[in-house]
Amino acid sequence: MSPPRVAVYPGSFDPITRGHEDLVRRSFAFADRVVIAVAVNAAKSPLFTVEERVALIRQAITHANVEVQSFEGLLVDFARRVGASMLVRGLRAVSDFEYEFQMALMNRNLAPQIETVFLVPAFDMTYLSSSLVREVARHGGDVASLVHPAVLQALGRKYRR
Ligand code: PNS
Repeated sequence: MSPPRVAVYPGSFDPITRGHEDLVRRSFAFADRVVIAVAVNAAKSPLFTVEERVALIRQAITHANVEVQSFEGLLVDFARRVGASMLVRGLRAVSDFEYEFQMALMNRNLAPQIETVFLVPAFDMTYLSSSLVREVARHGGDVASLVHPAVLQALGRKYRR
């Protein structure tokens, strides 16, 4: 039997959106297990603490073969620790490309045996990002269709005046 194919899906997830959930689902086209890796220091002042971000992901995604962990330090070191052979990143628009391309090449330089796989989200989610969700929620806009209900509640608590 061949060993399970493990993919790491890293990010800030501040907070997780329906777009992230869509990419996790798509990852199972080529992975047996997906480890969502929540970067502790990715954003300088995230809205949600890393513990909150992890807890929200666990509520939004209950798939048996999805694990959620936080990590500090280099992503490739984390990926090696969990036995991953792939890093999954989403590409929504051309504007994502330069940063993603640089990151993929740097990660390959650090760990040549780990491949970066880019996934395109569902068409109606290409505009979606955590920062836009935060912005809209902060101004009282409706983000109910863009995030899991647990995330919606958490945003409501953060921005309650
Ligand atoms: O969702 P984000 O904020 O775009 O995710 C960026 C993230 C967390 C994937 C990236 O900043 C990262 O991998 N940080 C860990 C440190 C690291 O390995 N940096 C070198 C990558 S080239």
